[in-house]
Amino acid sequence: MELPFIEPYKIKMVEPVYTSTRDQREKWISDARFNMFNLKSEQVTIDLLTDSGTGAMSDRQWSVLMLGDESYAGASSYYNLKNAVAEITGFKYFLPTHQGRAAENVLFSVLVREGDLVPGNSHFDTTKGHIEFRKAIPVDCTVDIASDFTKWDPFKGNVDLDKLEDVLKKNPREKIACIIVTITNNTAGGQPVSMANLRGIRGLADKYGVKFFLDSARFAENAWFIKTREEGYADKTIREIALEMFSYADGMTMSAKKDAIVNMGGFIGFRDDETFRNASTYNIIYEGFITYGGMSGRDMNALAQGLYEGTDYEFLSSRIGQTDYLGSKMKEYGIPVLEPFGGHAIFIDAKRFLPQIPDEEFPAQALCVEIYIEGGIRGTEIGTLMADRDPVTRENRFSGKELVRLAIPRRVYTDNHMDYVAAVVKNVFDRKDSIKKGLRIVSEAPILRHFTVEMERI
Ligand code: F0G
Repeated sequence: MELPFIEPYKIKMVEPVYTSTRDQREKWISDARFNMFNLKSEQVTIDLLTDSGTGAMSDRQWSVLMLGDESYAGASSYYNLKNAVAEITGFKYFLPTHQGRAAENVLFSVLVREGDLVPGNSHFDTTKGHIEFRKAIPVDCTVDIASDFTKWDPFKGNVDLDKLEDVLKKNPREKIACIIVTITNNTAGGQPVSMANLRGIRGLADKYGVKFFLDSARFAENAWFIKTREEGYADKTIREIALEMFSYADGMTMSAKKDAIVNMGGFIGFRDDETFRNASTYNIIYEGFITYGGMSGRDMNALAQGLYEGTDYEFLSSRIGQTDYLGSKMKEYGIPVLEPFGGHAIFIDAKRFLPQIPDEEFPAQALCVEIYIEGGIRGTEIGTLMADRDPVTRENRFSGKELVRLAIPRRVYTDNHMDYVAAVVKNVFDRKDSIKKGLRIVSEAPILRHFTVEMERI
């Protein structure tokens, strides 16, 4: 008999899973003003709000914490991380930051000026936030097929090279701050970007003389998809693939809270020392000295170790396999989910789930609320709420995309937990016709409003 696939780790430490009654959850979500970020973690049974900083560290990561060197400058932990970054990404110059958005802040302080354009593939909300905060414009050049949630395509995270070239051709070179490509493309559903596409982007960057950076939060998952889906890569290791991916870029930002499996941390990688030196000044102002940048020595050690563990093929197969397991269960129940399934999350299509609720009533957020009430599962809205208002017209940006993201923390939940999640969503699906109204906003911040928004039921 063929032996089944098993997780390449076992569990040494556990923490409780909290249960609650429907009445309690009804009260809690109303007290939280229907904002998932306002719930206390004990009010949540299965927390799929994010896969960011929520992973379980390994015994090796915990052990290197004890070896952390807390010297202000030149700590051995810094050199451990520098070596790991060079080995895994190929970038010789790097700056540690406390998380991904801090890396964006430092890098964009060097590159982005008012009125600039930053083309890329569905910029993540903090990336978009940092660009728009500087009165620059993120230009989304994602392939059209990404907005068709049912069509199978191996690389729905790709940049449409024609759209990108159009932006580069029609605008003076000085107006293009840089190209930024997110791997995997979180906003488009955790979809990968192919090696051929990265090569094509490099070609355009060279042709038009612009810099090209990778937002690399889930680069290892992207490499796994290249290995399993792109011709010519099946026999290459994840690390070989990662090195090739990074070889096409001038640098990278990294939220290490994802694929480096740490609870906090990030960094920026650079190929040229000029950008590195310019960014170093901002790093010192915003983050800390260039050899710690917002991280403790122990955290840099854990991050260095996590870069190796996060690029292990067996680990990635079990991690992406679990996402596939949840997605397949939900599909079996007839629940409309984005396909193919992404690396880190399953995305439910709220427009097909709750077609009776118009976009003005935030159907994806309304569905998040129902899923929470049904079984204490916390997901997050990727839709009109997260899209913010247009900075110029202040109108809501209706993209027609209304998704509920169920993001799976790394090495935290078992497949039994995934069975529970699928059953909860199925129960909501069975009573979907009884959900008649959505939500309205009571108060909101001018930017990144979904984190603090207060809402009420219509
Ligand atoms: N880039 C991508 C693609 C991300 O997904 C995130 C964070 C960031 C940058 C910012 O990194 O949180 O370390 O400052 N994504 C989390 C999420 C918050 O839930 O998807 P950060």
